[in-house]
Amino acid sequence: MHKSAFSIEDACIIKDERFLYPDYVPERLPFRDAQIEEIVSSLRPLLRNGKPQNLFIFGPTGTGKTVTAKYVIKELESASSRAKGLYINCFEDHTRNAVLNKLCISLGNAVPRRGLAADELYNELLQTLKTKKISPVIVFDEVDQLIKDKTSSMLLYDLLRANEQHGLQIGLVLVSNLYEILSFLDGRVLSSLSAKNVKFESYTPEQLKQILNDRAKIAFFNNSLDQDAINLAAAYGAKCNGDARVAIEILLSAARMAENEGAKSVNINHIKNAFKTISPRALQKAAPFLDVHEKELLKILCEKDALFSGELYKLYAAKFSSPLTERSFRDKLNRLAELKLISLKDVKEGMRGRTREITLAQPKNAIMRQIIE
Ligand SMILES: Nc1ncnc2c1ncn2[C@@H]1O[C@H](COP(=O)(O)OP(=O)(O)O)[C@@H](O)[C@H]1O
Ligand SMILES: [Mg+2]
Repeated sequence: MHKSAFSIEDACIIKDERFLYPDYVPERLPFRDAQIEEIVSSLRPLLRNGKPQNLFIFGPTGTGKTVTAKYVIKELESASSRAKGLYINCFEDHTRNAVLNKLCISLGNAVPRRGLAADELYNELLQTLKTKKISPVIVFDEVDQLIKDKTSSMLLYDLLRANEQHGLQIGLVLVSNLYEILSFLDGRVLSSLSAKNVKFESYTPEQLKQILNDRAKIAFFNNSLDQDAINLAAAYGAKCNGDARVAIEILLSAARMAENEGAKSVNINHIKNAFKTISPRALQKAAPFLDVHEKELLKILCEKDALFSGELYKLYAAKFSSPLTERSFRDKLNRLAELKLISLKDVKEGMRGRTREITLAQPKNAIMRQIIE
């Protein structure tokens, strides 16, 4: 009898891998009760048409900031017909225009393809909130990407002011790994924000074990994971600064390896091998949002190791029929450096003065795997 190449008879490990994806929001979030309560109590006034307390959520990577914020806005939406959670990932949308565009779209507005100017979008946003009687909680995740830019961050000011000027109740939830980031905000923004801080601590190995066990129950078939394997994945997560994301990702990657080799269960060797394939965080976060120009620059750097700015520009420009101007090229370099994908070093260049030497700031093989292939 013909056996399908895709036969899942032998695949007896992963039951539903969607439960292991980073954007899955679980029904329970162990060890985050205190943070959930703080966030809920700050947003609760919305339920009686009152003004919510703005929040600043911070803590290391993989400590559940994003998932907790999403969890709470979901709960809030189910508790009130007025309240609406709007989620912005500032890696993806980091200009005033892009954010406003995303907000309008999330509220169901048809935004013309040619695009609208930021002011038009802003007016449209306010209008929609008023006519639909919506009190939004806007989550600005990875908010450092927005705050780094002075003009973009003034968007926060506009939204804060809308509360007073237009009688709206907009709650802002800013999320970042960097505690210091708020100090980059303009004084006026900072004072009208007056956000309450909510701190997320790294998970301990024991906590990670429980998180993984919970997740394994829904994502894997019974007995397809050795407890030792879970414990080791938890230990790796703990070693990466208590990062639950790393731990969960290792489980998924190890399980795929185990299935591919026809194993009946995931053992510690699969976990060890999976750990080797985990890309650095900076790379993982940025990769989905890089454009063709940024990718090409990284590709050239993978081939050349170190280049002066002028050399890199020449090699890059040769690849495109209409390359970016040198000025936009410099902006790209600064952005790639902010994303911690490249390093820029000021150096003397012969008689002509100064230039910048550019090198990769992440392992070449990881860049190749994550971005170029
Ligand atoms: N308390 C928790 N219970 C269950 N899963 C969690 C918990 N905390 C984090 N996770 C999971 O770990 C991963 C990383 O969490 P995330 O919210 O993205 O972290 P952060 O935003 O702090 O970097 C996600 O897959 C998330 O579902
Ligand atoms: Mg996050």
